[in-house]
Amino acid sequence: MAENLSIQGNSKEELYQNLIPQALALIEGERDLIAAMANACAAIHHTFGWLWTGFYIVKNNELVLGPFQGPIACTRIQKGRGVCGSAWQQATTLVVPDVDAFAGHIACSSLARSEIVLPLINSEGVVLAVLDVDSAELATFDEIDARYLAQLCQALARLF
Ligand code: SME
Repeated sequence: MAENLSIQGNSKEELYQNLIPQALALIEGERDLIAAMANACAAIHHTFGWLWTGFYIVKNNELVLGPFQGPIACTRIQKGRGVCGSAWQQATTLVVPDVDAFAGHIACSSLARSEIVLPLINSEGVVLAVLDVDSAELATFDEIDARYLAQLCQALARLF
């Protein structure tokens, strides 16, 4: 939607070009994973004003809620369940333009209409966590989000 693509007159791409170096500096300046994740999701969330931005971390073969910004959320997600569990299982980024059309979507908030989930993957191809971003508008996310957010996920994966 327009408000997501153009905040204070900047295009989505311009917002990312401003955000990514700052967020990378925050991540690379901190060796504690949770501290880095906390600032990373705050930086993303407040740049765009999306509904929910946060991490689920793989622990004992399930996804457990990590640092996030936004309303309270489901604390645990099983492999293959919902968008997050599917992105984990498939070890790939999932862009969902309409969550109601995604079989098995987990509705932590009834306001969520679209989302993107990116896996954090180590050098051996193992998924360590996922970054989940939810929007209250349909079709908010695309390959631009996938490309820029992947840079932050790669930097965070090195902290595990
Ligand atoms: N949307 C996710 C669930 C997590 S919350 O929305 C924060 C999913 O279907 O995986």
